[in-house]
Parts: sequence; structure tokens; C-alpha cells
Amino acid sequence: MPRSGARCLAGGAVLGALMAVAAGWGAFYEAAVRGWLPANADAKPPALEKWIANKALDAVILREAPTRPNPLKLDDRNLIGGIRLYAANCAVCHGASDGRPSRIASGLYQKAPQLARYGVEDDEDGDVYWKVAHGIRMTGMPSFNGSLADRQIWQIVLFLKNMDSLPPEAQKAWEAVPSAAPRAVAGRGNSTSSKEKRS
Ligand code: HEC
Repeated sequence: MPRSGARCLAGGAVLGALMAVAAGWGAFYEAAVRGWLPANADAKPPALEKWIANKALDAVILREAPTRPNPLKLDDRNLIGGIRLYAANCAVCHGASDGRPSRIASGLYQKAPQLARYGVEDDEDGDVYWKVAHGIRMTGMPSFNGSLADRQIWQIVLFLKNMDSLPPEAQKAWEAVPSAAPRAVAGRGNSTSSKEKRS
């Protein structure tokens, strides 16, 4: 083929690709403004959506998460500090030691793992640190690097990594964190609505 013909073919292919991208964006825009894209939280996340989100998250963590181990000493002071911070900031979504979800956790999209049951003990320190510090976009998982000190985040990471093998004092503190589940709230007698009692 003469050189000008080959150039013409390549130009056509590029133009075709650009038109396909433009058509794709056009269709996406149309679907969004017409309300055809799902925006509700009371649905099960489709497998493809989960796959893409997890791939993107793993890739960012691989690039950005600190590779150094936890700088804090594994002792009761740091563990119990981490447990208190967890109780105040995380249990509403990730549950207490009974692993039972709160109403907030049950209604989230994506679902928040109940960490007493699906823990992160086997994950790298730096990966857990990254998730707590930066949060996970388009899920309920907040970023805490604007509201907790670096040392506090590492205390929480220390607790999460050792949740299944806590020394006795820390274990006692963990079991004392009130359940996040509705029944426990009703059981403590500070609920008056009939809906609370029925659940
Ligand atoms: C408002 C709800 C909410 C709060 C509060 C919250 N999280 Fe999350 N968290 C989530 C959700 C939802 C996910 C799942 C994100 C996903 O599907 O990728 C998540 C994911 C995580 C993960 C990753 C779990 C895994 O299996 O990889 C960790 C670790 C975590 N959160 C720790 C924490 C800690 C520690 C706190 C408190 C300092 C906290 N979260 C507070 C909602 C929350």
C-alpha cells in the first residue's frame, strides 16, 4: 500500500476511536441526566462495580501506602487507646466484638465489613493505615487524617491488626465496647420506640 494510503487508514482508525469514545460519553451523560443510572443505596452492589472499585483501590494502595511497619509499641496502653478511638469513631459502621451491625451499617452502600467477623489481621500495617487515613471514595468509609492525629491512626491500626489475639486487659476493654446492633440498644433500656423493641 502506498504510504499516503496507510496514513489515511491510520487517521480513519483514530477518528473512529474518538467518535466511539464521544458516543460512549454521550450515552453515559444521557443515562445520568434521565435518571437511568441507579442512585439508591438499598441495592446489592453489582459484581462488575465491586471488581472495578477493588482493582482501583488495590492499585492506589500499592503505590501510596507506607511500607514501614507500625511505629508504635505493642502494649496495653496503645491497644486500649486504639480500642477507645475505634469505639468512638468506627463501631457505628464496623461493629463491636459481637460482630453485629448497627442500623447505619446495614443501610450502607457499599457494606461496611463487621471487623470482629471479617477482620484485617492479615493485611499489611501500611494498607490498613492508608484506608483509615484516606478513606475509600464512594463508599461510606471516611478519611480520618483531618480529624485524628497520625499517632491515633497508628493506635487504631495496632488494635485492628491484633484484634484476634489481644492480651487480657485489652480484650476486656474490647468486650466492654457496647454492641452497635439495635437489640443491644433496646436491651439497655434507653429505647422507647416500639420499632426499636420489635427489632
Ligand atoms: C460511616 C461508616 C463508616 C465509618 C464511621 C468507618 N468506616 Fe471503615 N469502611 C466503611 C465501609 C462502607 C467500608 C467498605 C468499603 C469498600 O467496600 O471498599 C469500610 C472499609 C474499611 C476498611 C477496609 C476493610 C477491608 O476488609 O479491607 C477498614 C480497615 C476500615 N474501614 C476501618 C475503619 C476504621 C478504623 C474506622 C474508624 C476510625 C472506620 N473504618 C470508620 C464504612 C465506615
